[in-house]
Amino acid sequence: MLSMEIVLTGIKPTGTLHIGNYVGAMKPAVAASRNASALSYYFLADYHAIGGDADAVARSTLEITASWLAVGLDPNQVVLYRQSDVPEILELSWILHSVTAKGLMNRAHAYKAAVAENEAVPGRDPDQAIMMNLYSYPVLMAADILMFKAAKVPVGRDQKQHVEMARDIAQRFNHHFGETFVLPDAVIGDNIATLPGLDGRKMSKSYGNVIPLFAAEKELRKLIMKIKTSSLEPGQPKDPADSALYDIYRAFASDAEAAAVRERYAAGIAWGEMKQFLFERINTEIAPARAEYERLMAAPGEVEALLQRGAEKARAVSRPFIAEIRDRVGIRPLVR
Ligand code: TRP
Repeated sequence: MLSMEIVLTGIKPTGTLHIGNYVGAMKPAVAASRNASALSYYFLADYHAIGGDADAVARSTLEITASWLAVGLDPNQVVLYRQSDVPEILELSWILHSVTAKGLMNRAHAYKAAVAENEAVPGRDPDQAIMMNLYSYPVLMAADILMFKAAKVPVGRDQKQHVEMARDIAQRFNHHFGETFVLPDAVIGDNIATLPGLDGRKMSKSYGNVIPLFAAEKELRKLIMKIKTSSLEPGQPKDPADSALYDIYRAFASDAEAAAVRERYAAGIAWGEMKQFLFERINTEIAPARAEYERLMAAPGEVEALLQRGAEKARAVSRPFIAEIRDRVGIRPLVR
């Protein structure tokens, strides 16, 4: 049998998802997961999320798992699991620490940014409040990836360096202990447009300008009515290239729908009318998923059971592989 290409991606359970995450990451990932020539692993990276509010990690794990299920990720077609339910990942993480150069970790963007922030304050210790889990973050991420022999790792641009580090770590291990790991490549969605938020800047939690993916219908409508527009009056032609409303509509619409809206812009559609139109377009697409999301949020036992089944599938791979890895590095029973 030809072995299937393995595609793996981790989702850090922090915060709540917004419509930018949906069109930029979730929709394409769900479509890709239906590709029968690849085997997809999706996991909730909860060990990557610890250190802050404990309840927030747990709540976000439920919310984000329910969201992915609600938008159509099929747990029978992919391996969907929670990182902390697969203890072999953590074991591998430590083993990988032994082939990870400290100098490599010194170059990680996230760590460097945290140090730079401290250095910007005169007299402050450059390592103030920086925990080892930030420093070692790329090693745990390498364990996530290498454990399942993933060849392709779809990630946002900000994670590309981490995948490259996983590759370096794998190479060094293979060189030292013999061919063990598959060298992963990051897959960056280049055609993924980032959505503008309510104020026209990039939609981002840190700007407080997001439209939550599963906002209730009334709330969704209210937020869309707040999206920034120009002062052009009804009847005046409008330029889609200079309109957050259009950009958001474009991300949801087909080419034909988008062309029709461009004509309405040229004909001077009123901003209020366009907002109502955008609301209806998004709401129509999201309403069924929202209903399923709400059902799942009210049935956490069902979500937990799915995650447990996913972890069993993952561990069917990770248990035998960690046994091989342990043997390679010399962690062995004294008598065989
Ligand atoms: N670090 C990723 C993020 O913050 C999440 C993640 C953890 C991940 N482990 C991974 C992504 C392994 C891809 C592969 O978005």
